[in-house]
This record gives sequence, C-alpha cells and structure tokens, in this order.
Amino acid sequence: MKTITSFEQYKADYKKSIEDPETFWTDIANDFLWKQKWTKTLEWNFDSPEVKWFIDGKFNITENAIDRHLATKADKTAFIWEANDENHLPRKITYQNLHDEVCKIANTLKSLGINKGDRVCIYMPMIPEAVFAMLACARIGAVHSVVFAGFSASALAGRIQDSDCKIVLTTDGAYRGAKDIVIKALVDEALEICPSVQKVLVYKHTHSAINIIEGRDVIWQDVVPNALSVCEAELMDSEDVLFILYTSGSTGKPKGVVHTCGGYMVYTCYTFQNVFQMDSSVSSLPEGEMPKAERELFWCTADVGWITGHSYIAYGPLLAGASSILFEGVPTFPDAGRFWKVIDKHKVTHFYTAPTAIRALEAQGLDFVKPYKLDTLKVLGSVGEPINEEAWQWYHKNIGKEKCPIVDTWWQTETGGILISSLAGVTPSKPSFATLPMPGIQPLLVDEKGNEILGNNVEGNLCIKFPWPSMIRTTYGDHNRCKQEYFSTYKGLYFTGDGCRRDENGFYRITGRVDDVMNISGHRIGTAEVESAINMHIDVVESAVVGYPHDIKGQGIYAFVIVPSTTKNHDSLRQEIIAEVNKIIGPIAKPDKIQIVTGLPKTRSGKIMRRILRKVAEGDVSDLGDTSTLLDPSVVDEIVNGKI
Ligand code: PRX
Repeated sequence: MKTITSFEQYKADYKKSIEDPETFWTDIANDFLWKQKWTKTLEWNFDSPEVKWFIDGKFNITENAIDRHLATKADKTAFIWEANDENHLPRKITYQNLHDEVCKIANTLKSLGINKGDRVCIYMPMIPEAVFAMLACARIGAVHSVVFAGFSASALAGRIQDSDCKIVLTTDGAYRGAKDIVIKALVDEALEICPSVQKVLVYKHTHSAINIIEGRDVIWQDVVPNALSVCEAELMDSEDVLFILYTSGSTGKPKGVVHTCGGYMVYTCYTFQNVFQMDSSVSSLPEGEMPKAERELFWCTADVGWITGHSYIAYGPLLAGASSILFEGVPTFPDAGRFWKVIDKHKVTHFYTAPTAIRALEAQGLDFVKPYKLDTLKVLGSVGEPINEEAWQWYHKNIGKEKCPIVDTWWQTETGGILISSLAGVTPSKPSFATLPMPGIQPLLVDEKGNEILGNNVEGNLCIKFPWPSMIRTTYGDHNRCKQEYFSTYKGLYFTGDGCRRDENGFYRITGRVDDVMNISGHRIGTAEVESAINMHIDVVESAVVGYPHDIKGQGIYAFVIVPSTTKNHDSLRQEIIAEVNKIIGPIAKPDKIQIVTGLPKTRSGKIMRRILRKVAEGDVSDLGDTSTLLDPSVVDEIVNGKI
C-alpha cells in the first residue's frame, strides 16, 4: 500500500477522500487479497443505523495478515515476545511460525466443535497464544470476544453471557510485575453462571495448580501441538462479524461493540501504515535481505484485551507485514526503566504507549531513563486519553531526544482505528493536539442543540458525519442500544461522547468525555458500572461516582456514598467497598476516594446533579452554579465541607 509521504499529499488525499469517498476507499481496498471482489463500496444510513462497506466482498483477514506475506517474508519476525521476567529468553515468532500456530489452534477449535459464527471468549494474559487465538478464530470465521485478564470473574461472566460464548480460551495463571495472578480459578467461578460454555481450553503458562473439570477442560499443550499446521481459511463476507469487544458506556452494563471483517481490515492497515510511517519498502523485504540498521520494530504497549491491542498489536501491524514486540510485563517491573531497557535490547523503532504510563514513569525520575541510549527510536505515539503538555514535552525530550515525531492518536473502541492524528514526520504536530483527521474522516463540532459550530478557535462536542470503513456496526444483541448511544443525540451524526477544541489552524484537541464515562489510566469505565458495584455492598444506601483530575491516572474515581447513620467504622467500610468493586469489576475500577455523605444533590425529579459533585471532586467549589432547583440545597454544604 502506498503511504502518504508529504503534507501536500495528505491534503490532496484528504480532499479526494471527502469528494469521492467510494473511489478513495476502493483504491485502498484493492491492495488486499479478495477471493471475490465487492459489488458496491458503501451503503449507509445513520438513522437506523446501518453501515456496510465492500458489499459482497469475500476473503479472509488471516490470509491478508499472514499467508499473503509468506512468499516473501516467511522468515520475517512477526512478533518478539518479551516476558514479564526480564531473565526469561524472548520468543521470536516468524510469519511462518505464526501461520502454523494459528492453523493448529484453528483446527483444535474445530475439533472442539467451534464453527463459523460461534462466539469464543479469550481471557488470557499477554502471551503470543492470545494473539494466535484471535487469529485462529478469524481463520475459521468464529467471533472472538477478548476480555481483559484483569477483569473479575463477575465481569467475565457478564461478557460471556451477553454473547453466549461456546468456549473460553485461557491460561492457568499470569505474571504481572512482581505478582502471580490467578486466571483459571476466575474462569471456573465465572462459568458457574455461564451455561453456554461447553469447553475451556487452558494454556499452561505459570504451571500453577488448577482445577480440571473433566469433560469440559482441555489442556492446550495436550491438543494444539498435535493438530495440523494447515487450515483452510473460511470464506468470509465483508460484513460478517470479526469480533465483539465490550466497552463501557454512559449507562448500564458494558456493551459489545461489533466490528466486521472487510472495513476493519482495510482501515486498521491503512491507518497503521500512514500514522506510524514504518518504512514499508523495508518491511516488504525478507528479513535476511534487510540492511540491519534499517530493520524496523513496532511496539504497542497496550493489552490485547483493549481495542488498541486488537488494532495495533494484532491486526494492523500483521496486515502491513510489520514486526512487533509483544510485552507481558508492566512498565515498572523490575523497575521504572523497563520500557527503555526493552527498547534498547530489541532496537525498537516505533513506540506507542499511553499518557498514564508516561506520567507514571516521569514521576519516577530521569535516573531510570539515563542508562539507556534509546537511539533506535524514530517515532513515538500516544493513545487512550488526552496527553497533557507537560507529559508530551517530557516524552519528546527524554525519550524521543527531540528528534522523534509524536503521534497523538485519538480514537475509540467504536471507531476501530485511529480517526484523528498527525502522520509521523509528514503532517504537523502540536503538543496535546491530536491535530488533523485521517483521510476519509469528516469530524465536526456541535453545540448542545446539535448545531454545527463552524470556523476555527471553537469548542464543542465531537461528531463524525460520514461513515468510515472500521466503524461500529452494532452493539451485540441490542441494535437499539447502538442507535441510542451513538446516533440519537444528534440526528444524522455519529456522536463520540468527547468534547473537543479546534484551534486557529483547524487542529483538533480532544478535551475529554462529556458523558458519564470516565477514563482511568486510559481505561474506559462508566460511572454507572462503578455505582452499581458499590451499591452491592450491604451497608450502602446509594452512591454517585464522578471522575476527577489525577496526576498520574489522568482521572481518578471519586465516590460519594450514603450509608445508614448506624454504620460507624467508615475506614473499614471504605476497604470493604473497594473489595466489592474489585470483585464485581476488577482492580482497575477501584475508587481512589470515598466520601461518606448523608445525601446527594438531587433535582426534584430525583436526578443526581453530577455537575456539582464533579466540581467538589475537582476541588473547585468557588462557583457551583445554580443550586436552587435542588430538592435539598443544604446537602451541598455538607458535601463541600466533607471533601477529602
Ligand atoms: O475520551 C477519548 C479517549 O478514550 C476514549 C475511547 O476509549 P476506548 O474506547 O477505551 O479506546 C481507547 C483507545 C483508542 C475516547 O472517547 N481517548 C482516546 N485517545 C485519545 C483520547 N483522548 C484524547 N486524546 C487521545 N489521543
């Protein structure tokens, strides 16, 4: 695929993509391997909503991500796996190895009764088998639903039930920093309430003791190595479902965002190549023929349990034939120099991480950076939350040594791929600005009433007015929810849930969510989800949760909790509430602050005025706005005085 190499070309391509989107995307899609060409490029309607790309096109994404490369780069590295334990030897997986492993797992899944369209839950830590498993599903047309292995048994069960998964792929345990994590026992607990699951395929990773349920549990190492390493790829329609990924919304339980095969393939590869600008002429050479100094190695530090891991660890880089690092560990183990050490060790050229990690490592001081050269780096990336200017500058100066462009990539689980970002070294960048839309993306800002805000130097709610290939198709099992969440707030527009500023040059800066979704360390968590977990505690009468600015996490969780006046020991109650949230969602949703209150600021119709709670949590009580519509305005004073 030809990549954009100048700002002029970006402008020309952008113009073309807006004037004639179908021709624009047809040209790009033509670069892939299709078994049957599509008959129509696009059909869409944002009211239903219904979006279809590359209609009637038939192909398999794994043939594009793997088989297509075998003729010229069978020996090229697809992944280098760096273990949590730095003394563990890295694993190198070539494209040929990847092919063989994926086929073996695909054949195993078939032998366990998995067919096209069946849902497969993958609940695994960051080991190569997790990516192999995703691709194995895609190979046979099964739908993967990866659940981040930090979620609790109860959160896992909810996701399995929602999409009636037939099988769970998991491990015995996991290593995370200095901790040994239990995985299989959580699956066992979850499956007590998941009758749809018939089999569990367990990869022995930590070799910790596990319970085996006869007839249900199968040990990976007993079956996968014996399976055939060829497996014909299932012929998939462009609009067949590729995967479901659960994410938090502003109301209710997490929803299963559905992505389909064709558009997702085209868009993740296109954005990977253009945003990161890996040298495709080099990466198309077999590894042996590459000049050593020019080998490029991408490292996205996300977990495969999130969309970033799906699009820019698994699919995008493989579709582009690139080499990537897959990292099992955490940034601070064995110390806060681990990222930088791994970059030097493997000669990483393109590094993509989250602002929360940058801030956490910045806080540890430069002594952890100084021992490393970091001289192989060419491009830095940021994703998941707004990057504040200070963190941007620290990253630029100390990691990029002021020579690496930084791409601040804005996108969402629902968008499938990057929508707003600079193209590394090709289009201008500006600290804390995602900058310009990718070709094909038509952003607009609207006011509260949905009127478009024209011109520059303006701020509003970010919407997109035209479909792009990798956009959400539906929310699994509940199409109306998709319509309500994204297409009903502003008629005829996809609403992102984000606030945004457009500066004097037309550059976009995402300012954060304007709905009841929080972004904690780059993880998306709904206030409603945390509230419902807190409310499960027997002593809790009611709760309200808001996000507040947090130096490292970007946002922290602040919970206001009403308990009966008879509950005296508030400190132990706080610990119990945290334990409850851990149990119901997982440690990522643990409240940072819990304030015990006797009432919440509610309107006469019973709606909690979160605006007031947000201000209190932020510590900005100078102007709480109009409180006269509250049922009991005196509750506000009590809350302000009791702030922690
Ligand atoms: O608020 C935006 C923020 O993360 C949200 C999407 O979260 P999720 O679906 O979990 O996907 C995260 C990884 C793509 C967005 O609505 N967000 C993501 N990237 C940025 C960002 N906010 C500001 N700048 C970004 N670069």
